[in-house]
Amino acid sequence: MNDISLAVSIGSLKLENPVLVASGTFGYAKDAAGLNSENGAYSLRELGGILPKTITKLPRQGNPAPRTCETTAGLLNAIGLDNDGLDEFIVKKMPYLRSIGTKIIVSIAGRTAEEYAEMAAALSGVEGVDALELNISCPNVAHGTDFGKNPVECEKLVAGVRRATNLPFFTKLTPNVGDITVVAKAAEQGGSDAVSLINTVLGMAIDWRKCQPRLGNVMGGMSGPAIKPIALRMVYQTAKAVQIPIVGIGGIETVDDVMEFLVAGATAVEVGTANFYSPTCTQKIIKALPEAVGYFEVKDIREIIGRMHKI
Ligand SMILES: Cc1cc2nc3c(=O)[nH]c(=O)nc-3n(C[C@H](O)[C@H](O)[C@H](O)COP(=O)(O)O)c2cc1C
Repeated sequence: MNDISLAVSIGSLKLENPVLVASGTFGYAKDAAGLNSENGAYSLRELGGILPKTITKLPRQGNPAPRTCETTAGLLNAIGLDNDGLDEFIVKKMPYLRSIGTKIIVSIAGRTAEEYAEMAAALSGVEGVDALELNISCPNVAHGTDFGKNPVECEKLVAGVRRATNLPFFTKLTPNVGDITVVAKAAEQGGSDAVSLINTVLGMAIDWRKCQPRLGNVMGGMSGPAIKPIALRMVYQTAKAVQIPIVGIGGIETVDDVMEFLVAGATAVEVGTANFYSPTCTQKIIKALPEAVGYFEVKDIREIIGRMHKI
């Protein structure tokens, strides 16, 4: 199985394999380094790429506690983009991230379209930053999904970032819309190299005895196994609507999950919540991928991307 190529490209970004870790579920990678080393045989270097927690231009404190709540088949979170800001990220987090030796895709969120462009420009010259992901889909901050819900504003924002940087970038979409393909097309039109989908699904948990919400922010984003069918459906629909690569996200934990996203049209995937309850799952997926791809009697993983649309 060693002769099967797992490499994929997104714009000018070349990934050794399509398995990435999703923003907000892997911190800034340092804490995960110990967790993921099973039998000393695995290093973060083996991941296709890492998306650190979303950063904003200025530091943010995030939302009041409780910020997470487990549900029957997933997690609700309302962290609220707690982070130390762009400058601290470059000085304090990038040295470790760039030392890992895999691709680093920096997730950014601005308050305005101009701020996204400004952050993209600032990160362009930073050693070790291989690509960006524009988080226009955070349901847990005021106006966090404005750009992800309005195709006209989305296209303008993406076009502004395109002018500001030569780095390849993905635009991360929210599922909390009527038709995600409309926003995906707008991101493509604006010049995004890829769309990543989905961010979390807006939800709520309630303590009925207290008649109170279980999250400090009242509502939060649902993630984990429960949202996989929603994410798959949206990747499938989006693959029919755009030409640019799709990065599939939502409830991925096993190699079968990854294969489902690939045949539905994803070029790469991001593993999120599963990093919390199954910290070595990405290692297992990467190991198992050649055999799964081999099922189709092909030598290159790219031959199975969107395969169900070709039958
Ligand atoms: C605790 C937590 C924090 C998150 N923080 C971010 C974030 O900072 N930026 C972002 O784009 N997505 C964030 N997400 C969303 C994930 O990146 C991912 O899109 C979502 O959880 C769906 O994937 P999953 O079902 O595999 O977790 C967060 C998710 C969780 C569970």
